Amino acid sequence: MPSTPPEAVRCRIEIDRLRKNFSADGREVVAVDDASFRINDGEFVALLGPSGCGKSTILNMVATLIAPSGGAIKVDGAPAVFGKPVRHVGYVFQKDTLFPWRTVEDNVGYALEIAGVPAGERRSRVAEAIRQAGLDGFAHFYPASLSGGMRQRVSLMRTLISRPEILLMDEPFGALDTHTKLDMHSVLLSLWERQRQTVLFVTHDLGEALTLADRIILLSARPGRVKQDFRIDFPRPRDAVALRETRRYAELFSHVWHSLGEEFAKGHSA
Ligand SMILES: Nc1ncnc2c1ncn2[C@@H]1O[C@H](COP(=O)(O)OP(=O)(O)OP(=O)(O)O)[C@@H](O)[C@H]1O
Ligand SMILES: [Mg+2]
Repeated sequence: MPSTPPEAVRCRIEIDRLRKNFSADGREVVAVDDASFRINDGEFVALLGPSGCGKSTILNMVATLIAPSGGAIKVDGAPAVFGKPVRHVGYVFQKDTLFPWRTVEDNVGYALEIAGVPAGERRSRVAEAIRQAGLDGFAHFYPASLSGGMRQRVSLMRTLISRPEILLMDEPFGALDTHTKLDMHSVLLSLWERQRQTVLFVTHDLGEALTLADRIILLSARPGRVKQDFRIDFPRPRDAVALRETRRYAELFSHVWHSLGEEFAKGHSA
């Protein structure tokens, strides 16, 4: 009897020889040069590299917010076109972009309001999102009265409420202290383990990348190109705290750290 073929792997994001030059003050900066990689459906991929190596630039090109200077990006097989929104894609930005004049529930529900989702359904989806983020009791608070970690939970839910299948995240926890960050890793892991979005998560924190991702794509110092692609094989579901105490974590950390350290050093001498 013929054996059943393995289920075809669906590629969601395809980046092919991507390049981006910026000119500022009469100076040309090559931010990204010849970067290529693919991300399959349901994969959690961390894009890791030193500051200034082009991580945000790559994410912004995938989100069609800036135009590439060369190469190509395909999302679900269709070319990404500058300025044209890509279906199913959600973006959590590096900076806190909550509306200060809206309460937690009105921030979280913003995308549903824009999409014209009826008030009853909107209320129940917002309440569910607030509960999932552990923000019960804070629905009527304004961002100014929340801690940094709470604001990031609101930002996360404001994106997830639209149920994006592809999630772009740019150092969303970069400004948080170590403990709050670990707490956010637990929140994100439990949400993702239920929904399995395809994630491209930018960070320069190796511990964060190891905790969350199935793969770490390591970028070189600027201009960013793919230096190495590591598979992170911790079983799931993961415990963001206990994971860090395992021998495998220490092994993987030192393995990737060596390569990342070379790029940090190059970045400093550039
Ligand atoms: N709009 C722009 N105009 C000119 N140069 C830019 C612009 N955006 C980014 N750059 C340059 O491109 C390079 C890559 O920037 P990018 O923001 O992608 O880095 P990054 O890897 O996200 O860094 P970080 O970890 O600090 O956020 C930097 O040298 C930056 O100065
Ligand atoms: Mg950045």
